[in-house]
Amino acid sequence: MSDVDTHIISVLLPASSILVYSQDQETLQAARNMAADWRFARVKMEIHEGDVKAAIASMSTQASPNLMIIQTETIDAGFTDNLVELAGCCDEGTAAIVIGPDNDVNLYRRLIDMGVSDYIVRPVETPVLANIIAKTMIEKIGVTGSRLVAFLGAKGGVGVSMLSAAVACGVSDILEQKTALFDLAGGWSTFGVGLGFEPTATLAQAMRVAENNEEDSLKRMLFRASERLSVLATGGDSMLGSAVDAAPLEKLIDMLMVRYPVVIVDLSQAPETLRRIVLSRANQIIVAATPTLPALRLARGLMSELKDMRGGSAEGLDLVINMQGMAGASEVPKGEIEKAMECSVAAFIPFDSKMFLGNENESRKLTEDKNARALIEKTLLPVVGKTLDIFGKEDKRVSAAAKSGFMSGFLKKRSAK
Ligand SMILES: Nc1ncnc2c1ncn2[C@@H]1O[C@H](COP(=O)(O)OP(=O)(O)O)[C@@H](O)[C@H]1O
Ligand SMILES: [Mg+2]
Repeated sequence: MSDVDTHIISVLLPASSILVYSQDQETLQAARNMAADWRFARVKMEIHEGDVKAAIASMSTQASPNLMIIQTETIDAGFTDNLVELAGCCDEGTAAIVIGPDNDVNLYRRLIDMGVSDYIVRPVETPVLANIIAKTMIEKIGVTGSRLVAFLGAKGGVGVSMLSAAVACGVSDILEQKTALFDLAGGWSTFGVGLGFEPTATLAQAMRVAENNEEDSLKRMLFRASERLSVLATGGDSMLGSAVDAAPLEKLIDMLMVRYPVVIVDLSQAPETLRRIVLSRANQIIVAATPTLPALRLARGLMSELKDMRGGSAEGLDLVINMQGMAGASEVPKGEIEKAMECSVAAFIPFDSKMFLGNENESRKLTEDKNARALIEKTLLPVVGKTLDIFGKEDKRVSAAAKSGFMSGFLKKRSAK
Protein backbone atom coordinates (compact mmCIF):
# COMPACT_ATOMS: atom_id res chain seq x y z
CA MET A 1 0.00 0.00 0.00
CA SER A 2 3.01 2.22 -0.04
CA ASP A 3 4.73 3.85 -2.99
CA VAL A 4 8.11 3.11 -1.50
CA ASP A 5 8.51 -0.33 -3.07
CA THR A 6 9.65 1.07 -6.40
CA HIS A 7 12.19 3.33 -4.81
CA ILE A 8 15.13 1.67 -3.13
CA ILE A 9 16.25 3.51 -0.02
CA SER A 10 19.98 3.08 0.04
CA VAL A 11 21.11 4.21 3.45
CA LEU A 12 22.52 2.56 6.51
CA LEU A 13 19.66 2.68 8.98
CA PRO A 14 20.18 4.26 12.38
CA ALA A 15 20.90 2.08 15.40
CA SER A 16 17.45 0.87 16.41
CA SER A 17 15.36 -2.09 17.41
CA ILE A 18 12.50 -3.81 15.62
CA LEU A 19 10.10 -6.34 17.04
CA VAL A 20 8.16 -8.55 14.63
CA TYR A 21 5.06 -10.57 15.56
CA SER A 22 3.66 -12.77 12.84
CA GLN A 23 2.10 -16.18 12.40
CA ASP A 24 2.74 -16.31 8.69
CA GLN A 25 5.85 -18.30 7.72
CA GLU A 26 6.49 -16.22 4.63
CA THR A 27 6.40 -12.98 6.60
CA LEU A 28 8.64 -14.45 9.29
CA GLN A 29 11.14 -15.51 6.64
CA ALA A 30 11.05 -12.10 4.93
CA ALA A 31 11.82 -10.51 8.30
CA ARG A 32 14.66 -12.97 8.94
CA ASN A 33 16.12 -12.08 5.55
CA MET A 34 16.72 -8.51 6.77
CA ALA A 35 19.74 -9.77 8.69
CA ALA A 36 21.60 -10.17 5.39
CA ASP A 37 20.75 -6.63 4.21
CA TRP A 38 23.66 -4.21 4.74
CA ARG A 39 21.26 -1.38 5.53
CA PHE A 40 20.16 -3.29 8.64
CA ALA A 41 23.65 -3.70 10.12
CA ARG A 42 22.80 -1.49 13.10
CA VAL A 43 19.23 -2.67 13.48
CA LYS A 44 18.43 -5.21 16.16
CA MET A 45 15.63 -7.42 14.84
CA GLU A 46 13.66 -9.68 17.14
CA ILE A 47 11.28 -12.00 15.34
CA HIS A 48 8.51 -13.93 17.11
CA GLU A 49 5.82 -16.26 15.95
CA GLY A 50 2.70 -14.73 17.47
CA ASP A 51 -0.12 -12.26 17.10
CA VAL A 52 -0.97 -8.83 18.46
CA LYS A 53 -1.93 -10.33 21.84
CA ALA A 54 1.52 -11.93 22.13
CA ALA A 55 3.02 -8.54 21.29
CA ILE A 56 1.01 -6.91 24.08
CA ALA A 57 2.11 -9.59 26.53
CA SER A 58 5.77 -9.13 25.58
CA MET A 59 5.63 -5.44 26.41
CA SER A 60 5.22 -6.23 30.11
CA THR A 61 8.61 -7.93 30.15
CA GLN A 62 10.74 -6.05 27.64
CA ALA A 63 11.63 -2.53 26.51
CA SER A 64 9.72 -0.91 23.69
CA PRO A 65 11.33 -1.24 20.28
CA ASN A 66 11.63 1.65 17.83
CA LEU A 67 9.36 -0.21 15.45
CA MET A 68 6.74 -2.88 16.01
CA ILE A 69 5.61 -4.97 13.04
CA ILE A 70 2.36 -6.83 13.59
CA GLN A 71 0.95 -9.31 11.16
CA THR A 72 -2.70 -10.21 11.51
CA GLU A 73 -5.09 -12.60 9.77
CA THR A 74 -8.18 -10.55 10.56
CA ILE A 75 -8.76 -6.86 10.76
CA ASP A 76 -11.85 -6.20 12.79
CA ALA A 77 -12.82 -4.13 15.81
CA GLY A 78 -11.14 -6.71 18.05
CA PHE A 79 -7.85 -6.23 16.26
CA THR A 80 -7.96 -2.44 16.32
CA ASP A 81 -8.85 -2.52 20.02
CA ASN A 82 -5.81 -4.70 20.56
CA LEU A 83 -3.71 -2.22 18.59
CA VAL A 84 -4.86 0.55 20.90
CA GLU A 85 -3.94 -1.59 23.89
CA LEU A 86 -0.54 -2.30 22.35
CA ALA A 87 0.05 1.42 21.80
CA GLY A 88 -0.69 1.94 25.47
CA CYS A 89 2.07 -0.47 26.53
CA CYS A 90 4.73 0.94 24.21
CA ASP A 91 6.95 3.97 24.60
CA GLU A 92 5.67 7.10 22.95
CA GLY A 93 8.23 6.94 20.15
CA THR A 94 7.43 3.43 18.94
CA ALA A 95 6.30 3.20 15.33
CA ALA A 96 4.08 0.43 13.98
CA ILE A 97 3.58 -1.34 10.67
CA VAL A 98 0.63 -3.68 10.18
CA ILE A 99 0.66 -6.59 7.73
CA GLY A 100 -2.82 -7.81 6.92
CA PRO A 101 -4.87 -9.99 4.58
CA ASP A 102 -6.90 -7.47 2.55
CA ASN A 103 -6.05 -4.95 -0.09
CA ASP A 104 -8.53 -2.37 1.10
CA VAL A 105 -7.88 1.32 0.68
CA ASN A 106 -10.41 2.33 3.33
CA LEU A 107 -8.82 0.02 5.83
CA TYR A 108 -5.38 1.40 4.88
CA ARG A 109 -6.60 4.94 5.46
CA ARG A 110 -8.19 4.00 8.76
CA LEU A 111 -4.99 2.42 10.06
CA ILE A 112 -2.88 5.37 8.86
CA ASP A 113 -5.35 7.68 10.52
CA MET A 114 -4.88 5.72 13.74
CA GLY A 115 -1.17 6.50 13.54
CA VAL A 116 0.11 3.28 11.99
CA SER A 117 3.09 4.09 9.74
CA ASP A 118 2.18 1.70 6.98
CA TYR A 119 -0.13 -1.15 6.10
CA ILE A 120 1.19 -3.95 3.88
CA VAL A 121 -0.85 -6.70 2.28
CA ARG A 122 0.36 -10.26 2.68
CA PRO A 123 2.35 -11.94 1.08
CA VAL A 124 5.25 -9.65 1.75
CA GLU A 125 8.36 -9.88 -0.36
CA THR A 126 11.68 -9.24 1.33
CA PRO A 127 12.72 -6.15 -0.72
CA VAL A 128 9.32 -4.54 -0.19
CA LEU A 129 9.41 -5.15 3.53
CA ALA A 130 13.00 -3.89 3.75
CA ASN A 131 12.11 -0.69 1.93
CA ILE A 132 9.03 0.01 3.98
CA ILE A 133 10.94 -0.56 7.20
CA ALA A 134 13.76 1.70 5.95
CA LYS A 135 11.31 4.45 5.03
CA THR A 136 9.54 4.19 8.38
CA MET A 137 12.75 4.25 10.38
CA ILE A 138 14.06 7.28 8.51
CA GLU A 139 10.79 9.13 8.89
CA LYS A 140 10.44 8.34 12.57
CA ILE A 141 14.00 8.39 13.77
CA GLY A 142 15.34 10.66 11.08
CA VAL A 143 18.90 10.36 9.95
CA THR A 144 20.20 11.05 13.42
CA GLY A 145 22.56 8.18 12.77
CA SER A 146 24.26 10.23 10.05
CA ARG A 147 27.12 12.51 10.92
CA LEU A 148 28.32 15.72 9.32
CA VAL A 149 32.03 16.45 9.72
CA ALA A 150 33.38 19.79 8.48
CA PHE A 151 37.00 20.70 7.81
CA LEU A 152 38.13 24.30 7.96
CA GLY A 153 41.56 25.90 7.67
CA ALA A 154 43.04 28.61 9.85
CA LYS A 155 44.42 29.95 6.59
CA GLY A 156 44.74 28.91 2.96
CA GLY A 157 46.95 26.04 1.87
CA VAL A 158 47.22 24.34 5.25
CA GLY A 159 45.89 21.04 3.88
CA VAL A 160 42.15 21.16 4.52
CA SER A 161 41.25 19.53 1.21
CA MET A 162 43.90 16.88 1.72
CA LEU A 163 42.69 16.14 5.27
CA SER A 164 39.01 16.01 4.23
CA ALA A 165 39.81 13.58 1.42
CA ALA A 166 42.11 11.51 3.65
CA VAL A 167 39.46 11.15 6.35
CA ALA A 168 36.75 10.44 3.75
CA CYS A 169 38.92 7.67 2.25
CA GLY A 170 39.69 6.30 5.71
CA VAL A 171 36.08 6.26 6.89
CA SER A 172 34.88 4.61 3.67
CA ASP A 173 37.72 2.20 2.92
CA ILE A 174 38.94 1.35 6.42
CA LEU A 175 35.87 1.83 8.63
CA GLU A 176 33.68 0.68 5.74
CA GLN A 177 31.05 3.36 6.20
CA LYS A 178 29.21 4.78 3.23
CA THR A 179 30.59 8.28 2.92
CA ALA A 180 29.84 11.38 0.86
CA LEU A 181 32.52 14.01 0.36
CA PHE A 182 32.00 17.45 -1.06
CA ASP A 183 33.49 20.91 -1.02
CA LEU A 184 31.95 24.32 -1.42
CA ALA A 185 34.83 25.77 -3.36
CA GLY A 186 32.98 25.93 -6.71
CA GLY A 187 35.50 26.58 -9.48
CA TRP A 188 38.33 26.53 -6.93
CA SER A 189 37.81 22.87 -6.07
CA THR A 190 40.88 20.63 -6.24
CA PHE A 191 39.18 17.29 -5.52
CA GLY A 192 39.08 16.41 -9.22
CA VAL A 193 42.89 16.37 -9.30
CA GLY A 194 43.47 14.39 -6.10
CA LEU A 195 40.65 11.89 -6.62
CA GLY A 196 40.88 11.61 -10.38
CA PHE A 197 37.68 12.90 -11.93
CA GLU A 198 36.54 15.62 -14.27
CA PRO A 199 34.04 17.92 -12.58
CA THR A 200 30.75 17.02 -14.23
CA ALA A 201 28.73 19.66 -12.44
CA THR A 202 28.89 23.07 -10.90
CA LEU A 203 28.15 23.92 -7.29
CA ALA A 204 25.39 26.19 -8.56
CA GLN A 205 23.77 23.21 -10.34
CA ALA A 206 24.05 21.03 -7.23
CA MET A 207 22.28 23.75 -5.25
CA ARG A 208 19.49 23.97 -7.83
CA VAL A 209 19.06 20.21 -7.86
CA ALA A 210 18.78 20.24 -4.07
CA GLU A 211 16.31 23.11 -4.14
CA ASN A 212 14.06 21.09 -6.49
CA ASN A 213 14.67 17.84 -4.61
CA GLU A 214 15.84 16.06 -7.77
CA GLU A 215 17.39 12.95 -6.31
CA ASP A 216 18.28 11.32 -9.61
CA SER A 217 20.08 14.41 -10.86
CA LEU A 218 22.02 14.60 -7.60
CA LYS A 219 22.97 10.96 -7.97
CA ARG A 220 24.38 11.66 -11.42
CA MET A 221 26.57 14.40 -9.94
CA LEU A 222 28.21 11.96 -7.54
CA PHE A 223 31.51 10.45 -8.57
CA ARG A 224 32.03 6.97 -7.18
CA ALA A 225 35.61 7.15 -5.92
CA SER A 226 35.41 3.69 -4.39
CA GLU A 227 32.86 1.15 -3.26
CA ARG A 228 31.68 3.28 -0.34
CA LEU A 229 32.95 6.76 -1.18
CA SER A 230 31.00 9.18 -3.36
CA VAL A 231 32.29 12.62 -4.16
CA LEU A 232 30.05 15.43 -5.36
CA ALA A 233 31.80 16.18 -8.63
CA THR A 234 31.33 19.94 -8.64
CA GLY A 235 34.07 22.33 -9.65
CA GLY A 236 32.97 23.28 -13.14
CA ASP A 237 31.93 26.71 -11.90
CA SER A 238 33.52 29.89 -13.16
CA MET A 239 36.27 30.86 -10.73
CA LEU A 240 35.47 34.54 -10.84
CA GLY A 241 31.74 34.14 -11.35
CA SER A 242 29.07 35.29 -8.94
CA ALA A 243 28.49 33.61 -5.59
CA VAL A 244 25.99 30.76 -5.42
CA ASP A 245 22.71 31.08 -3.58
CA ALA A 246 23.21 29.78 -0.02
CA ALA A 247 19.56 28.95 0.70
CA PRO A 248 19.46 25.41 -0.78
CA LEU A 249 22.60 24.26 1.04
CA GLU A 250 20.63 22.88 3.99
CA LYS A 251 18.58 20.79 1.56
CA LEU A 252 21.69 19.54 -0.20
CA ILE A 253 23.11 18.43 3.15
CA ASP A 254 19.80 16.76 4.04
CA MET A 255 19.70 14.86 0.77
CA LEU A 256 23.23 13.57 1.28
CA MET A 257 22.67 12.72 4.95
CA VAL A 258 19.66 10.57 4.13
CA ARG A 259 21.81 8.40 1.88
CA TYR A 260 25.17 8.55 3.58
CA PRO A 261 25.78 7.88 7.25
CA VAL A 262 28.92 10.00 7.05
CA VAL A 263 29.06 13.30 5.17
CA ILE A 264 32.35 15.17 5.01
CA VAL A 265 32.57 18.79 3.88
CA ASP A 266 35.73 20.62 2.89
CA LEU A 267 35.24 24.30 3.68
CA SER A 268 38.57 25.56 2.36
CA GLN A 269 37.78 28.20 -0.28
CA ALA A 270 34.09 28.22 0.67
CA PRO A 271 32.31 31.57 0.82
CA GLU A 272 31.52 32.73 4.38
CA THR A 273 27.75 32.43 3.98
CA LEU A 274 28.06 28.77 3.00
CA ARG A 275 30.64 28.11 5.70
CA ARG A 276 28.38 29.36 8.44
CA ILE A 277 25.52 27.10 7.39
CA VAL A 278 27.72 23.99 7.50
CA LEU A 279 29.51 25.01 10.70
CA SER A 280 26.28 25.58 12.56
CA ARG A 281 25.10 22.08 11.63
CA ALA A 282 28.26 20.02 11.78
CA ASN A 283 28.52 17.29 14.41
CA GLN A 284 32.25 17.82 14.35
CA ILE A 285 34.47 20.63 13.09
CA ILE A 286 38.12 19.92 12.44
CA VAL A 287 40.29 23.01 12.20
CA ALA A 288 43.58 22.59 10.38
CA ALA A 289 46.67 24.71 10.88
CA THR A 290 50.38 24.45 10.19
CA PRO A 291 52.85 24.71 13.08
CA THR A 292 53.73 28.27 12.10
CA LEU A 293 52.96 31.44 14.02
CA PRO A 294 50.58 33.11 11.57
CA ALA A 295 48.51 29.92 11.15
CA LEU A 296 48.44 29.21 14.88
CA ARG A 297 47.44 32.75 15.73
CA LEU A 298 44.52 32.58 13.30
CA ALA A 299 43.63 29.08 14.49
CA ARG A 300 43.38 30.34 18.05
CA GLY A 301 40.95 33.08 17.05
CA LEU A 302 38.98 30.72 14.86
CA MET A 303 38.68 28.05 17.55
CA SER A 304 37.42 30.65 19.98
CA GLU A 305 34.78 31.93 17.53
CA LEU A 306 33.70 28.40 16.73
CA LYS A 307 33.38 27.62 20.41
CA ASP A 308 31.12 30.67 20.86
CA MET A 309 29.11 29.60 17.84
CA ARG A 310 28.58 26.20 19.49
CA GLY A 311 27.24 27.72 22.69
CA GLY A 312 30.56 27.86 24.53
CA SER A 313 31.29 24.16 24.22
CA ALA A 314 34.44 22.79 22.65
CA GLU A 315 32.88 19.38 22.20
CA GLY A 316 33.13 18.22 18.62
CA LEU A 317 35.73 20.88 17.90
CA ASP A 318 39.23 19.63 17.15
CA LEU A 319 42.53 21.05 16.04
CA VAL A 320 44.84 19.17 13.69
CA ILE A 321 48.36 20.38 13.04
CA ASN A 322 49.40 19.53 9.52
CA MET A 323 52.77 19.63 7.73
CA GLN A 324 54.75 19.23 10.90
CA GLY A 325 58.46 19.44 10.13
CA MET A 326 57.96 21.58 7.05
CA ALA A 327 59.57 24.74 8.35
CA GLY A 328 62.34 23.36 10.55
CA ALA A 329 63.58 25.79 13.17
CA SER A 330 60.99 28.39 12.15
CA GLU A 331 58.20 26.18 13.46
CA VAL A 332 56.54 26.45 16.83
CA PRO A 333 57.74 23.31 18.67
CA LYS A 334 55.20 20.57 19.24
CA GLY A 335 55.29 20.96 23.01
CA GLU A 336 54.54 24.67 22.88
CA ILE A 337 51.62 24.51 20.50
CA GLU A 338 49.12 23.13 23.00
CA LYS A 339 50.21 25.64 25.62
CA ALA A 340 49.83 28.53 23.21
CA MET A 341 46.54 27.26 21.84
CA GLU A 342 45.07 26.44 25.26
CA CYS A 343 43.62 23.26 23.83
CA SER A 344 44.93 19.84 23.01
CA VAL A 345 45.93 18.93 19.49
CA ALA A 346 43.90 16.00 18.14
CA ALA A 347 46.56 14.95 15.63
CA PHE A 348 49.92 15.95 14.23
CA ILE A 349 50.46 15.10 10.56
CA PRO A 350 54.03 15.18 9.30
CA PHE A 351 55.12 17.15 6.26
CA ASP A 352 55.65 14.52 3.60
CA SER A 353 55.58 15.76 0.04
CA LYS A 354 56.10 12.31 -1.45
CA MET A 355 53.12 10.95 0.41
CA PHE A 356 50.71 13.82 -0.07
CA LEU A 357 51.76 15.70 -3.19
CA GLY A 358 52.98 12.49 -4.78
CA ASN A 359 49.64 10.71 -4.46
CA GLU A 360 47.77 13.88 -5.38
CA ASN A 361 49.76 14.17 -8.61
CA GLU A 362 48.93 10.56 -9.44
CA SER A 363 45.25 10.98 -8.48
CA ARG A 364 45.77 8.05 -6.15
CA LYS A 365 43.54 7.74 -3.11
CA LEU A 366 45.56 7.96 0.09
CA THR A 367 44.13 4.66 1.32
CA GLU A 368 45.75 2.99 -1.71
CA ASP A 369 49.18 4.04 -0.47
CA LYS A 370 50.37 1.69 2.27
CA ASN A 371 52.11 4.32 4.40
CA ALA A 372 49.37 6.92 3.99
CA ARG A 373 46.74 4.32 4.85
CA ALA A 374 48.61 3.43 8.04
CA LEU A 375 48.91 7.11 8.97
CA ILE A 376 45.19 7.70 8.37
CA GLU A 377 44.25 4.67 10.42
CA LYS A 378 46.53 5.44 13.33
CA THR A 379 46.41 9.23 13.45
CA LEU A 380 43.36 10.64 11.63
CA LEU A 381 40.58 8.12 12.19
CA PRO A 382 40.82 8.40 15.99
CA VAL A 383 40.02 12.14 15.58
CA VAL A 384 36.61 11.34 14.08
CA GLY A 385 36.21 8.16 16.12
CA LYS A 386 34.15 9.74 18.87
CA THR A 387 31.81 11.43 16.42
CA LEU A 388 31.27 8.26 14.44
CA ASP A 389 31.00 6.10 17.55
CA ILE A 390 27.24 6.35 17.26
CA PHE A 391 27.54 3.27 15.13
CA GLY A 392 27.46 1.38 18.38
CA LYS A 393 24.20 0.27 19.89
CA GLU A 394 23.98 3.04 22.44
CA ASP A 395 22.70 5.90 20.36
CA LYS A 396 20.84 7.83 23.01
CA ARG A 397 19.93 10.50 20.48
CA VAL A 398 17.94 7.91 18.59
CA SER A 399 15.59 7.32 21.46
CA ALA A 400 15.43 11.03 22.25
CA ALA A 401 14.54 11.89 18.68
CA ALA A 402 12.03 9.07 18.56
CA LYS A 403 9.99 10.68 21.32
CA SER A 404 7.93 12.47 18.74
CA GLY A 405 7.12 9.14 17.10
CA PHE A 406 4.05 7.25 16.20
CA MET A 407 2.61 5.92 19.42
CA SER A 408 2.28 9.39 20.89
CA GLY A 409 0.50 10.48 17.72
CA PHE A 410 -1.56 7.34 17.85
CA LEU A 411 -2.59 7.89 21.44
CA LYS A 412 -3.24 11.59 20.95
CA LYS A 413 -5.49 10.89 18.00
CA ARG A 414 -7.30 8.20 19.93
CA SER A 415 -7.83 10.30 23.02
CA ALA A 416 -9.01 13.24 20.92
CA LYS A 417 -11.90 11.14 19.64
N1 LIG B 1 51.29 17.00 5.39
C1 LIG B 1 51.55 17.39 4.15
N2 LIG B 1 52.78 17.21 3.62
C2 LIG B 1 53.04 17.60 2.37
N3 LIG B 1 52.19 18.19 1.55
C3 LIG B 1 50.95 18.41 2.01
C4 LIG B 1 50.56 18.02 3.32
N4 LIG B 1 49.26 18.35 3.49
C5 LIG B 1 48.85 18.91 2.34
N5 LIG B 1 49.86 18.95 1.46
C6 LIG B 1 49.81 19.52 0.10
O1 LIG B 1 49.69 20.92 0.23
C7 LIG B 1 48.88 21.46 -0.80
C8 LIG B 1 47.78 22.30 -0.20
O2 LIG B 1 46.89 21.44 0.47
P1 LIG B 1 45.31 21.61 0.35
O3 LIG B 1 44.71 20.44 1.01
O4 LIG B 1 44.93 21.91 -1.05
O5 LIG B 1 45.12 22.91 1.25
P2 LIG B 1 43.81 23.79 1.56
O6 LIG B 1 42.63 23.02 1.11
O7 LIG B 1 43.86 24.01 3.02
O8 LIG B 1 43.98 25.05 0.82
C9 LIG B 1 48.36 20.27 -1.61
O9 LIG B 1 49.07 20.15 -2.78
C10 LIG B 1 48.57 19.10 -0.66
O10 LIG B 1 48.84 17.89 -1.36
MG1 LIG C 1 41.29 23.35 -0.50
